[in-house]
Amino acid sequence: MNNNDIVKVFAPATVANVTCGFDILGFPLENVGDVLTLKVVKEKQIRITKIEGFDLPYEASKNVAGVVIQKLVEDLEIGFGFEVEIEKGVKPGSGIGSSAASAAAAAFAVNELAGRPLKTKELVKYAMEGEKLASGISHADNVAPSLVGNFILIRSYDPLDIIRLDSPADLFCTLVHPHIQVNTKDSRKILKKQISLELAIKQWGNVAGLITGINLSDYNLIGRSMNDVIIEPTRSILIPMFDKIKEASIRAGALGCGIAGSGPSVFAFSKGKKMAMAVNDIMREIYRNIDINFDLYVSKISPKGAFVIKNGN
Ligand code: HSE
Repeated sequence: MNNNDIVKVFAPATVANVTCGFDILGFPLENVGDVLTLKVVKEKQIRITKIEGFDLPYEASKNVAGVVIQKLVEDLEIGFGFEVEIEKGVKPGSGIGSSAASAAAAAFAVNELAGRPLKTKELVKYAMEGEKLASGISHADNVAPSLVGNFILIRSYDPLDIIRLDSPADLFCTLVHPHIQVNTKDSRKILKKQISLELAIKQWGNVAGLITGINLSDYNLIGRSMNDVIIEPTRSILIPMFDKIKEASIRAGALGCGIAGSGPSVFAFSKGKKMAMAVNDIMREIYRNIDINFDLYVSKISPKGAFVIKNGN
């Protein structure tokens, strides 16, 4: 066991799918995420004592962090309990991995206090328990980048095979979060269950192109590949002004643009911060004109996943 009996950790918000990579691609944002404090207690139970920021369940079995901790306690045969405090920096239903940030932070914190028996990548399957509770599906494209950092490709779910890819140095993300709520469970229900071979061919060409573009730092190839012909046509109707934001961002010079996770946030990639800021201004202008509240972020692809803010009291 670790000498400390309390740890405070941060886990970042994330953008899943990255257009064409439904359920298999994601990356973390800088400076936005959840903070979770975990304290060892003698009684063998998990008590959530504080949730700041948003109204979420305190009952451990109904809370994404709670179920992740419970599963780790069982599998690692931990002989004590925990008190949990969560500071939500990521708004639920925003599309930037709110449940994932809490789930990743919980898994990372338990591992720290248990003396790091598991590698960070091995924590992904535990954090996925939180996603299962939140959306009914244990997808890893938010929790894996939130834990591990950088672009993450989930090459396979069974067995879980997680590949970390360095981001091109000059790649920036501009993201707008319009304040409407789209929950992942509902936005998965509306998806078509079958696709044509013709669409599949287009999509896997784009996925391969995007991964190659990231690896070669070929910005033009990244842009050409940011094309989701399967999910976006169905989901984009839930997002106010989606087509206009996409069209205006690309016209201004963004490499590509798409839905962040299951929405409603929309993100664009640009080469260089100057272009990312110009896209930021375009997104702001569009939402201002229709009087919708929103948050804007400009960020690099964060190389950092979850980390310890403070160990001990
Ligand atoms: N891949 C998931 C989805 C991400 O699109 O439903 C949810 O953030």
